[in-house]
Amino acid sequence: MAANYTLRVNGRSHAVRVDDPRTPLLYVLRNDLDLHGPRFGCGLGQCGACTVEMNGRAVRSCSIPVSEAAGKTILTLEGIGTPQKPHPLQRAFVEEQAVQCGYCINGMIMQAKTLLDRNRKPTEDEIRQALAGNLCRCGTHVRIVRAIKRASEAA
Ligand code: FES
Ligand code: FES
Repeated sequence: MAANYTLRVNGRSHAVRVDDPRTPLLYVLRNDLDLHGPRFGCGLGQCGACTVEMNGRAVRSCSIPVSEAAGKTILTLEGIGTPQKPHPLQRAFVEEQAVQCGYCINGMIMQAKTLLDRNRKPTEDEIRQALAGNLCRCGTHVRIVRAIKRASEAA
């Protein structure tokens, strides 16, 4: 049954209408709000490419029904920085050349952001643990960890 929701994304409210309340938040972000930072990887909650922040926690937007996201505070990659004023993590990922194809990077940055928000100076082990559920098929993990370390040192 069609339903209307208000989503609070990147500091703005958006009225959305969906055919099914179980529609994944990821679909609404990408297709209705034109936010393409979050990626569709597996669609099963297993890869992390679709990660966004919801009420301060990293969540997999492919596995969150839009009905559950309504009224919560949602932050996507687009909301944390701009090309002119990048987030320290975005800058560090560029400086460390941590990206190959880039498909996983939205998830890596959003997951890392929630880590740095609660632990400003994580050890390498803590970074690895926090990102253990985020997959990178290009195998650029070493540079990703280095970029997160660099961002934590810049903070
Ligand atoms: S697309 Fe959501 S976890 Fe893979
Ligand atoms: S950079 Fe290609 S999947 Fe991670």
